[in-house]
Amino acid sequence: MYNRRQTKDSGRAVRGVGQIGSRSPVSCDGVRMKVAVSGKGGAGKTTLAGVMARLLAERGKKVLAIDADPDANLASALGFPKELASEIVPLADLKELIRERTGASPGYGSLFRMNPKVDDIPEKYSRTYNGVRLILMGGVQKGGAGCFCPESVVLKRFMEEVLIYRDDDVIMDMEAGLEHLGRATARSVETLIVVVEPGQRSIATAEAVKRLAGDIGLASVKIVGNKVQSDEDRKFIENACGRAELLGIMTYDPKIVDADKLGISPLDNDGGRLREEVGRILDALSVRS
Ligand SMILES: Nc1ncnc2c1ncn2[C@@H]1O[C@H](COP(=O)(O)OP(=O)(O)O)[C@@H](O)[C@H]1O
Ligand SMILES: [Mg+2]
Repeated sequence: MYNRRQTKDSGRAVRGVGQIGSRSPVSCDGVRMKVAVSGKGGAGKTTLAGVMARLLAERGKKVLAIDADPDANLASALGFPKELASEIVPLADLKELIRERTGASPGYGSLFRMNPKVDDIPEKYSRTYNGVRLILMGGVQKGGAGCFCPESVVLKRFMEEVLIYRDDDVIMDMEAGLEHLGRATARSVETLIVVVEPGQRSIATAEAVKRLAGDIGLASVKIVGNKVQSDEDRKFIENACGRAELLGIMTYDPKIVDADKLGISPLDNDGGRLREEVGRILDALSVRS
């Protein structure tokens, strides 16, 4: 049990990775994909994350999709029926579980466990559809610097669990702030994909995301250009981001907007191009890893 007012660094030392039982980390052997998707709001993060997860499942992978955006809508992009999606309780809202696992008393006083058990969470608090297991992180109210509230401790441990110890392919739909990723887990994200649209604001957000990624030690950042309507759009993105960083492109397609309006997966409203383009993005990731 540790005092919640401990500094970040002392907290990290306490819950160091080596402490979690006898389990060993899975290796980055190119067999598993641990990918996070970020970018400006509306750029197409959820669309890309949803389609990537579905295609990986079709390829026979064990896929865990994590909706880490408080404005959660990955379920719909994955094609989850509304009723099934509504059964998933965001981890941050599992107050009783968080209390039980951390030993924090109501209002949590000052003492709680820094290495709560979380290895049963992916199975218990998810739902699976189209071969993709989905978990919602939910939002945690930020405390001051150095504050470890029980919710954020459980969520950080959960991230370690899925990124470092489990052998699922993980696709994370994140907001631009990369909330929920810290130094301990960022190194296990193989690639952070930043989705950009042809536009200065989207590029500026990508630059900010890259800086944040660098700050937490996330080594590989790649760009996916989305809503591309012309060669000119493609060149704009290439020029702004550099050709080497460009992992792939998704073409603008009104059918993707229609899918969103209908609340269905864009993959289920696709003439074939989206499947092909995201398939190529997955291939590019596999080749690199
Ligand atoms: N390639 C595309 N062509 C047309 N519309 C798209 C495309 N990608 C995304 N959209 C639409 O743009 C909107 C925002 O996409 P979304 O994936 O929810 O973005 P984010 O998760 O980054 O906020 C949605 O209505 C979606 O259907
Ligand atoms: Mg989204």
